[in-house]
Amino acid sequence: MSIATQSTEPGLILALSKGRIFDDTLPLLASAGISVLENPETSRKLILATNDPGVRVLIVRATDVPTYVQYGAADFGVAGKDVLLEHGGEGLYQPVDLNIAACRMSVAVNAGFDYESAVRQGARLRVATKFVNTARQHFASKGVHVDLIKLYGSMELAPLVGLSDAIVDVVSTGNTLRANNLVEVEKIMEISSRLVVNQAALKLKRARLQPIIEAFERASKTQG
Ligand code: ADP
Ligand code: PRP
Ligand code: MG
Repeated sequence: MSIATQSTEPGLILALSKGRIFDDTLPLLASAGISVLENPETSRKLILATNDPGVRVLIVRATDVPTYVQYGAADFGVAGKDVLLEHGGEGLYQPVDLNIAACRMSVAVNAGFDYESAVRQGARLRVATKFVNTARQHFASKGVHVDLIKLYGSMELAPLVGLSDAIVDVVSTGNTLRANNLVEVEKIMEISSRLVVNQAALKLKRARLQPIIEAFERASKTQG
């Protein structure tokens, strides 16, 4: 069945990204009685069947999850708060903090760079990040002038090669920062992943969605 036939076959479509979000969502799906029949790490398929013929899973890039849900190409999805803040959340209902993929958004600099002094002296900082909206808002709220450089990954490299004075990125264990001789100088916010639901789907498919949302909510209380 193609997605184009969705209107006559009101199945549910869940958007997930490969890796930690997919892996951490599996137990939540299991709590709703749903198991995904294929492994996205080994299959090249982008639409995965589940044991429930009424539920399918789309495999998309993490930053694309809100877009698929916003436009209704997926009825619901799981995305990090970092990604949702960059997207803006338009058209999305966010009923549950799933407490998965927990990390923090931080500012980091080269170990030898005196960030506090630079800020105190009103220096203009070059900041490399994937999270330009969050970074812009953070530095504006502190009254720090920054030039933002948009990157798509490996942010930790930027200060090492003189591309930027600082980075804004997610940190979990701190291993990546340590391995690259960077230090975390400011925590911007705690991050976890959220269930997001298309607002129209929430009304039209509530009977099917609600039990899954409730199962996710119950199961996520035991995650950490
Ligand atoms: P991407 O390919 O976009 O980097 P990830 O699977 O790495 O996708 O990240 C998905 C989400 O998981 C991010 O939006 C963030 O909320 C969270 N995340 C990213 N890195 C980590 C980490 N090291 N530990 C825990 N959660 C993380
Ligand atoms: C993320 C993030 C950091 C790292 C932080 O990268 O962009 O580089 O995790 O985690 P740590 O503090 O535990 O080291 P990820 O593993 O997702 O790699 P990628 O996004 O570059 O593929
Ligand atoms: Mg990543």
